[in-house]
Amino acid sequence: MIKVGLLGLGAIADMHRQAIHASSDFELVAGFTRNRPKLEALAKEWQFRSYTSVASLLDDGDIDAVIVLTPSSNHHEHASMALKAGKHVLVEKPVALGADQVHQLERLANKLQRVCMPGHCSVYRPVLQRAKAIIRSGRLGIPYFGSSALAMPIPDEQLYGWRSKIAYGGGGALIDSGTHRLYQLIHLMGAPCQVFAWTHNWKQVMEGEDVALLSLRFESGALGSVFQSWVSRDSTIPEIRVLGTEGSLWISDALYLDGEKIVPQLPRQDSFNRMLQQFADCILKGTLPIATMQEAELTARTIQAAYDSTQTATAINLCDAGQGSG
Ligand SMILES: NC(=O)c1ccc[n+]([C@@H]2O[C@H](COP(=O)([O-])OP(=O)(O)OC[C@H]3O[C@@H](n4cnc5c(N)ncnc54)[C@H](OP(=O)(O)O)[C@@H]3O)[C@@H](O)[C@H]2O)c1
Repeated sequence: MIKVGLLGLGAIADMHRQAIHASSDFELVAGFTRNRPKLEALAKEWQFRSYTSVASLLDDGDIDAVIVLTPSSNHHEHASMALKAGKHVLVEKPVALGADQVHQLERLANKLQRVCMPGHCSVYRPVLQRAKAIIRSGRLGIPYFGSSALAMPIPDEQLYGWRSKIAYGGGGALIDSGTHRLYQLIHLMGAPCQVFAWTHNWKQVMEGEDVALLSLRFESGALGSVFQSWVSRDSTIPEIRVLGTEGSLWISDALYLDGEKIVPQLPRQDSFNRMLQQFADCILKGTLPIATMQEAELTARTIQAAYDSTQTATAINLCDAGQGSG
């Protein structure tokens, strides 16, 4: 049994708690948040040992693994501290602010022989895994275009909380929800080679952008786009499209192959359950996660380049000259 602690007990913590509960390999034993009344209430309800500092939770030798659920700017520090304390680590998205930080975590985990896994929950959806298998099988011919888009509202508490400050969130809608859009596209299409981006701040409440559009060219030569909005009144269904020379895929309320529905979409909790089970398999069996730290690094590098592109109004290269043409 893997004894696990939650570093952060905010909005997303309950999905991780439910996933831990659904797995016979994990036991939730500890939790951290700075807000003491909230900590004590959850400790009672969820039955765990309570800690008011990250360091004190990590000092608990009875904890084997932690899930990092603090604000995005804290992920690198908290995941590094946890690895150094000998814990296995699952880090929520974005894994860190910048590709160098993600790379450092990966190297640290390798050196200390601990698991460090990105919380790329959407990759674990059966619709995405089936889409990847179809692309690999060659059924689509040459995949020449891939896109990933979601327009949604953002709750007021998030609009005014840490997400509204670039120092805490690392940016706006792109690095936050847009990370989900991009890591899924990278999982299906491979490494981006070039990015041109536009962002805008319509509501003027947050410091960062509330809309972002990325034009991408992948190493394979395929083109692509990512769109993330926090401005819409109603949420659209997150959509992914892959167009190939011999067929097309569309993921929305289900996975469609050439317009025919082939895999149903499951509730969001299912992807957290599958991700946590993969975390257990990595710890107990040495399995490699299907969503890798390399993908997290590529995602972070592409987002950094997208922000650079908005400053310079130029396309930013992400791979060596000469690659990606075709
Ligand atoms: N996979 C997904 O679909 C998904 C969805 C939502 C969020 N996330 C990710 O999960 C992470 C947490 O998001 P959330 O929405 O749960 O945030 P949240 O509700 O604001 O919770 C953040 C937690 O971190 C603690 N915290 C805040 N500032 C801190 C600091 N400076 N040092 C240490 N702890 C601090 C908070 O404690 P106090 O309140 O007690 O201060 C709280 O326990 C983010 O990285 C986000 O991107 C992922």
